[in-house]
Amino acid sequence: MRYVDGVTTKKKISVIGLGAWQFGSREWGYGAAYAASEAPAIVRRAVELGVTFFDTAEVYGFGRSERILGGALNEANAFGTSFVATKIFPVLPVAPVVEQRGVASANRLGVRQIDLYQVHQPNPLIRDTTIMRGMASLQRVGLVSEVGVSNYSLERWQAAEEALGAPVLSNQVEFSLLRPRAETDLLPYAIKNDRLIIAYSPLAQGLLSGRYTREHRPSSRARAANPLFLPGNLDAARPVLNVLRDVAAGHNASPAQIALAWVIRHPNVVAIPGAANVAQLENNVAAADIELTEEEYGALKTASDAFEPTVGPRATVTAILRGGLGRS
Ligand SMILES: NC(=O)c1ccc[n+]([C@@H]2O[C@H](COP(=O)([O-])OP(=O)(O)OC[C@H]3O[C@@H](n4cnc5c(N)ncnc54)[C@H](OP(=O)(O)O)[C@@H]3O)[C@@H](O)[C@H]2O)c1
Repeated sequence: MRYVDGVTTKKKISVIGLGAWQFGSREWGYGAAYAASEAPAIVRRAVELGVTFFDTAEVYGFGRSERILGGALNEANAFGTSFVATKIFPVLPVAPVVEQRGVASANRLGVRQIDLYQVHQPNPLIRDTTIMRGMASLQRVGLVSEVGVSNYSLERWQAAEEALGAPVLSNQVEFSLLRPRAETDLLPYAIKNDRLIIAYSPLAQGLLSGRYTREHRPSSRARAANPLFLPGNLDAARPVLNVLRDVAAGHNASPAQIALAWVIRHPNVVAIPGAANVAQLENNVAAADIELTEEEYGALKTASDAFEPTVGPRATVTAILRGGLGRS
C-alpha cells in the first residue's frame, strides 16, 4: 500500500480507501448476507492489506453502514491505525443539531473520536457559518479530529474554511475518468494548500470495470438513478473502456485497476471504491502498486477529455453551454 503525501494528519491515509455506502444499504441490492458477513470480511481484509481510510455516512443504510464498519474495525482491533470518516446529512444543520448528530455517529461507529466529520452536501439555504459553529464545538471537545466537506465548489469550500476559522481538511467529490472535473480547480487548491481530495465513485459505480453495456445494465436502485448507466452514455463510454483495456493488458491488470491507478496518480488524492466482495477489494488495493507511464496517463486523459455524456441532465447542460441545442 502507498500512503498520501503532502497532507498532515494524525494517522496516515492509504491512497486506496474503502467506501462503505454499500454496507446495509438497500439501494445497492447486495442483500442481507452481504451486510452480515461479506461486508465485515471486506473490512477485515482491507485492514490486513494496509488500507487505513474508511468512508461512511449517517445516511448510508440509515446508520447501518456506520454500525457494520465500526463493528468490523473493532473486531479487527484496527481503530488505532484506521482513519474513519463519516458524514452528516445537513438537514437543518444548526449547531446543536450538528453536535447531537456527531455524537450519534460516534456511538454507532463505537469511537470516542471521529477522525474526519464531513458535511455530505452543501445546504442551498443555510450558510456554512451555521454548520461550522457545530463542527467547531465538536472539535473543541475532541469528538471530531478533522472537518471535511463533500460535493462543495471551491468557493464554498473556502467559505467553509473561513467560517470554521481553520482548515477544512478535505472535499469529497466524484472523481473518475468519466468525471474528471475536480482536476480543474479543487485538485490544484488541495495540492497548493495541503488539503485532501477524496475521490468517490472512482470506478463510476462499476461502469469502468467494463462489465456493463446497454444490453447488460445493473438493476440496483443506486445505479438506476445514475445517468451514466443510460444506454446512450454506456455507448459513449466505450472509447474510454477501450483505452482502459489496452493499458490494463500491458500491466496484466483489470480495467478497474487502471481506472483507480489513474485517479491516485494525482497527488493529495485518496480513492474510496466500494466493493461487492472481498475479491474486488483485493483487486482495488492492488491498484496502488500500478505505475502508469506518461504515455499511458496521456492516452487515458485524452479519452477522458473526449467523453461526453449524450443523455441526462449533464448532457443537456453541456449542449446548452456549447450552443448546441436547436441546431439541426
Ligand atoms: N459524498 C458523496 O456524495 C458520495 C456519493 C457516492 C459515493 N460516495 C462514497 O464513495 C464510495 C465509492 O463510490 P461508489 O460506491 O458510488 O462507486 P464506485 O466505488 O465507483 O463503484 C463501486 C462498485 O463498483 C463495482 N466494483 C468495485 N470494485 C470492482 C472491481 N475491482 N472490479 C469490478 N467491479 C468492481 C462494485 O459493483 P458491482 O460488482 O455490483 O458492479 C461496487 O459496488 C461509496 O461507498 C461512498 O462511501 C460518496
